[in-house]
Amino acid sequence: MRIALLASGTGTNLQALLDEVHGRDGITIVAVASNRSDATALQRAAAAGVATAVFRREEHSDRDARDRAIADWLDERGAELIVLAGYMQILSAEFLARFPNRVINVHPALLPAFPGIHAVEQAVEYGVKVFGVTVHFVDGGVDTGPVILQRAVELPGARDAEQVLERLRPLEHALLPEAVRLIAQGAVSFDPSNPRRVIVER
Ligand code: GRF
Repeated sequence: MRIALLASGTGTNLQALLDEVHGRDGITIVAVASNRSDATALQRAAAAGVATAVFRREEHSDRDARDRAIADWLDERGAELIVLAGYMQILSAEFLARFPNRVINVHPALLPAFPGIHAVEQAVEYGVKVFGVTVHFVDGGVDTGPVILQRAVELPGARDAEQVLERLRPLEHALLPEAVRLIAQGAVSFDPSNPRRVIVER
């Protein structure tokens, strides 16, 4: 399976995929794109010999045009699965329609609790005792798509979002490669009676 990543930041999840799945079990990372030319994720990809590209919003007439350019590039690279790994942009409906059920995201909370960009801060503020990570399919909403995998960690004394994020990182770095492997194996499907429910056969 040829996979592509979209990333806006440091790319530690990209690194986990490069280390854990790239070049193994028929999985190849064929492309990494970013909306930011300064994303460290691009350097990580280039260091691994993976093709990179930058699609800055300012260089396209609007968001849809930018997303069309990204989708065209991913198609050229033969991407079959798109992984959002810290990609801080909402993808257009047209983009998602070109890759139906082929875009996944990793989120640092137990969805549907705490969607959006300040998930960990909000969870700490709320005073939850169990934190966690979700890998899910991407639909038109913000972190609303069907859940593939989740993993939790009990942190009853959590007060600091940065510290919680540090505890969540290893969970993300395990769960995202696991989800990609399962999808590549054909072990992930949708319950025909309820397509929100993702079936994972291990
Ligand atoms: C991760 O916390 C992920 O859950 C969120 O964005 C962050 C990306 O981190 N969607 P990195 O760039 O992979 O290090």
